Amino acid sequence: MSAPNKPFDPKEVSALSPENIAIAVAEALEAFSSAATLDELKEARLTHAGDRSALALANREIAALPPAAKAEAGKRIGQARGEVNAALESRTVELEAARDHELLALEAVDVTTVVAQPSHGGRHPLTTIQEHIADVFIALGYSVAEGPEVEAEWFNFDALNIAADHPARTMQDTFFVGNENSGLVLRTHTSPVQIRTMLTQEPPIYVICPGRVFRTDELDATHSPVFHQVEALVVDKGITMADLKGTLDHFASTMFGEGIVTRLRPSFFPFTEPSAEVDLQCFLCRGASVDNPDAPCRTCRSEGWIEWGGCGMVNPKVLVACGIDPDVYSGFAFGMGLERTLMFRHGITDMRDMVEGDVRFTRAFGLGV
Ligand code: PHE
Repeated sequence: MSAPNKPFDPKEVSALSPENIAIAVAEALEAFSSAATLDELKEARLTHAGDRSALALANREIAALPPAAKAEAGKRIGQARGEVNAALESRTVELEAARDHELLALEAVDVTTVVAQPSHGGRHPLTTIQEHIADVFIALGYSVAEGPEVEAEWFNFDALNIAADHPARTMQDTFFVGNENSGLVLRTHTSPVQIRTMLTQEPPIYVICPGRVFRTDELDATHSPVFHQVEALVVDKGITMADLKGTLDHFASTMFGEGIVTRLRPSFFPFTEPSAEVDLQCFLCRGASVDNPDAPCRTCRSEGWIEWGGCGMVNPKVLVACGIDPDVYSGFAFGMGLERTLMFRHGITDMRDMVEGDVRFTRAFGLGV
């Protein structure tokens, strides 16, 4: 009898044998359970459940089996692979959970830890007060005008009716640029912006001009060679002192509190006629400290009023110098120092604090806009 065809290759028989399959499964389960990380598990998966794993190779051999043996071997391999895959799956779940746990612990944030804060600056109160004043007047329909800090003498003095022999023109008050005859000065007030505005705009004019001004003063607790003013100028038909007073009162109450008014005291400025000093009603005691030794007020020194600035009706000579007909138009102007305003507003006693740029000073005013 001729030898029958071999039913299958002995090698294949051995790969599919229950023992060898059990060994492959045992090795896979052992490799999965000893994998300590997801990376190690991935390695183990490629070795024991990948395309080239013992079980995958054994599976391929099924095709070569006689039909009768196929079902049996297929079932065995199927069960073995099911077992291996289930073990792989459950180890994956375990290791992922462990990894998540570790990550969460690693990324935990202690919100109570004290950390070094980067230090913030503060906006200078002179900047914020200028913006605040601009807001008040823009709401009234004014616009903000600007002029140069290095100014022609003519704008700073002559056009404002300040005669050549006026004390303000001597070297004592004025910084001249170059020599005394250069015709250029550092502006000593914001009033030249009135002239520049009237020369470039037709009435009606409603402007304010906040800005830096310069005088030859020594820096001390109450003086600074560089300080700030805000100027207002209105030129229109039928403008009277009542408009000036009403505007000042509105300004005072928006800056210092509801009901705070101003008082005008006769004075002199070459560019206004009539002229007056503007006093602010004391916003702290509202006058209650006057003649009341039991309740003195440091802000107004118990006077009930605080000197605030100067004002008046625009001198017709100034209107003429700017080509505006004083028979048709009239106007008012006022100006006040911003450092002074801040000093009594915030109880600042030393002007130098405002120019030194120490962040400990500005920070106290916060970041208010
Ligand atoms: N320019 C004047 C000063 O610096 C203030 C002022 C402005 C007075 C406007 C009257 C009108 O002292």
